[in-house]
Amino acid sequence: MKAILLAGGKGTRLRPLTLNIPKPIVPIFNRPFLLYQLDLLKQVASIDEVILSLNYQPDRIEELIGNIHNLGIKIRYLIEPQPLGTAGAIRFASDFLDDTVIIFNGDVLTELNLSAVLQYHRSREANATIVLKPVEDPSTYGLVEVDQDGNVKRFLEKPKAEEISCNTINAGVYIIEPSTLHRIPKHMPWSIERSFFPALINDGERFVAYASSGYWIDIGTPASYRQVHRDIMDGHFPTEPFRSKPKGTVVVADSAQIEDGVTLEGPCFIDEGVIVKKGARIGAYTVLGRKCEVGNNVNIEASILWPSCAIGEEASLSDVVLGRGCHIGRNAVIQSGVTLGDKAVVPDYDGFNR
Ligand code: GDD
Ligand code: MG
Repeated sequence: MKAILLAGGKGTRLRPLTLNIPKPIVPIFNRPFLLYQLDLLKQVASIDEVILSLNYQPDRIEELIGNIHNLGIKIRYLIEPQPLGTAGAIRFASDFLDDTVIIFNGDVLTELNLSAVLQYHRSREANATIVLKPVEDPSTYGLVEVDQDGNVKRFLEKPKAEEISCNTINAGVYIIEPSTLHRIPKHMPWSIERSFFPALINDGERFVAYASSGYWIDIGTPASYRQVHRDIMDGHFPTEPFRSKPKGTVVVADSAQIEDGVTLEGPCFIDEGVIVKKGARIGAYTVLGRKCEVGNNVNIEASILWPSCAIGEEASLSDVVLGRGCHIGRNAVIQSGVTLGDKAVVPDYDGFNR
């Protein structure tokens, strides 16, 4: 059985982080995101191949994943000649499909018993099964209405406020029979959410929903990218590097150098080769990527720094994300949800009376 990971989007909402790296492989702590999804797919013994459906910066993904040994699952890289949308991408992969297929949005992290979903799909003799999650505000997702028996009655992508009739949304995980795919035209952009699912309902196909109660997040915005780190640190999604760690653990890699007089407040994560100088405070929910250098008396809290960032002394970072290799000057203050792209430079700040 095969799984398809839809990993070809441009990740525009995560810009500037996704200018040099596609969303499926942005780091979560020190692991490319996609590896967390492969962990989940590997739980289903009958999946023998994962098709990575790629378009945006496919070489980056192929190079990174291709260089990881012992992935534990066979990967096929399928690169679309142009962005074909979420359904067009599946149609593009259809030559490789001859059996029931599991499809995953490439930016969803979830705790889900996939085998149970598969079993449900089979017991309902469904042609398509969609996993649902309840959320407070469905407006940025695909709203899914079901009847009492779990049959999908309506699918509405990105509903307007007045169109919201329930709180269940498309979690971005589907099981589909290849016999349904003929309604997706070949070689042209087509949306699974706006065209394929509504067509299934219209045509009276057996299209059912599986309600999931486990952890779920779409990491595709800076806020949710920060949130997924918090959730893993708090144990809401048990995985490395915080699996089975007590609440508030400070995880420091062996080769990190933490000088005397540094305050570390858990939970936080400090990767290999990091240097933190005297007097600095690394507050809760901070992630310091490989080889970051943090100067004297710097204050960092609730921030994620990708590898090789340098933070000048006395600077202060709160609730920010910094891409690779950023240089933050002495005394600079950055806060409240700011995201800086790779190699951003913020000059020293010497007050207004220079
Ligand atoms: N191969 C390929 N080609 N993949 C694509 C393309 C494409 O042209 N366009 C988007 N994708 C991939 C993205 O990389 C992402 O992993 C996935 O398809 C979904 O695209 P997003 O752009 O992240 O969609 P969204 O988050 O606005 O909405 C989708 O996900 C929600 C759950 O997170 C929809 O499926 C919603 O219905 C759903 O609720
Ligand atoms: Mg998304």
